[in-house]
Amino acid sequence: QTTLPPYYYNDDPHSFGFSTCRSRWVKILKNIVEDTESEINSSKSNELKKSQGAEIIGKIENLSKDLANDAKLTPFTNDSIPGLKSFNETLSKLKNSPDGPRLKWLTGPWLFLECWLYREVDVFYKERSEWTNFDVFERLKRETFFSSTLGVYELVNRYKKLQDGKAELIKDQELLKVVYEEFIEISLWGNATDLSLLANATLEDIKSVQGSAARAKSRKNIIANDLDLTWDRITISAKLGKPRRVDFVLDNAGFEFFTDVCLSLFLLDFGLVDEVVYHCKTRPWMVSDTMIKDVKIMIDDLLDTSKFPEHRSDIQFFVDSFTKYQNSGQIKTAESEFWTIDLDYGNISPEETQFGGAELWKYFQDSTLVIIKGDLNYRKLTADRHWPRDTPFTTAIGKLADSGIHLVALRTCKADVCAGLSKGKDEELCEYWKSLGNEYGELWCSSGKWAVISYSSGSKK
Ligand code: F6P
Ligand code: MG
Repeated sequence: QTTLPPYYYNDDPHSFGFSTCRSRWVKILKNIVEDTESEINSSKSNELKKSQGAEIIGKIENLSKDLANDAKLTPFTNDSIPGLKSFNETLSKLKNSPDGPRLKWLTGPWLFLECWLYREVDVFYKERSEWTNFDVFERLKRETFFSSTLGVYELVNRYKKLQDGKAELIKDQELLKVVYEEFIEISLWGNATDLSLLANATLEDIKSVQGSAARAKSRKNIIANDLDLTWDRITISAKLGKPRRVDFVLDNAGFEFFTDVCLSLFLLDFGLVDEVVYHCKTRPWMVSDTMIKDVKIMIDDLLDTSKFPEHRSDIQFFVDSFTKYQNSGQIKTAESEFWTIDLDYGNISPEETQFGGAELWKYFQDSTLVIIKGDLNYRKLTADRHWPRDTPFTTAIGKLADSGIHLVALRTCKADVCAGLSKGKDEELCEYWKSLGNEYGELWCSSGKWAVISYSSGSKK
């Protein structure tokens, strides 16, 4: 057994965890307090809700103090909330490891602490009757989507136009592959932090990023690219004549999910797959992740003419197409507690029988392709370990590489961990990042400017 590289730690100034826990978490907690306050002050709140809301705010303020003071973690005490047991188990394992003394907010393993933070906040709401189903991030998710109108218009228009050339495209596999690539990239860059490719740009910018030259330019920033392998997997499966299902392990609601739907509709319309399943989070998670209710919210928001006043017929066409597939059962949603525990995705395996890993392993066995979206999911895939960045992706995902699961990560890089790069690429980007005046070259990988498309066939043979 080879020893695994260490995790990324919050006290490492070379890691993006360092500034994340010192400033980004603080800001996130502050926003949570503000949004809870505005819910308290809204007409929806009765007296009980108000007083429970005040308790929640008190708890969050204490948590903020713990962060500022680099306090130690204390185990969860609520046994009735699913998944917390996993956190406590990991905490006690880590306590007995060389990491023991480091289990503090500003010091310990970044990924574990980040997952813990969101769960601790969630407990405050879950434990209070009037707040159990409150999604403190809902306002933010929707507002971000509303600020993405131009990207939405462009894509519904692109989707509608695609129908005109459909007969021809279906006959010409090479051309179809070009469109596949376009839709994969749309879903990939839908994960970019700044959404700069589509969302916040001017109409002119958007027109230019839709051009093939601009796509070619952003393609250069995809620094590991297994797109061809995913195309082969999908088209070879199509020839076998068995039902084909694509699973999305979703990331963010709103614009990113909208781009995932674009990709899904393309795959279904062109007969590349028969069924699409969206795997959602069971609770508010990492600010903007998609819960099942966010799927309907996105569609309802698209139908809101005050939020998306233009291109109504293209929007309607898009929504009708989505609804048609939902009604026929070809688009479905699923959820699992597994996605919001601390365990890395190497635990999607028959051995993980406590928290849903074994069920997911079984379910994914007959998936044509599991599309795993975004940064946090990628960190869970690779266990957020300090892999040399030219480590093969299939090494970094551990047992999953031999799990029988065909998967692809579509991720814009917003954290330290990365694998699958060619030799020398990391060094080149570190140099480049420093030449722009940044103190630590390694942090190119947390900037959201680069991306990876990394595939595993699920068999090391
Ligand atoms: O940049 C780091 C981060 O805030 C992480 O905390 C988290 O992994 C990620 O971004 C969230 O990004 P995504 O929505 O792409 O998973
Ligand atoms: Mg997310």
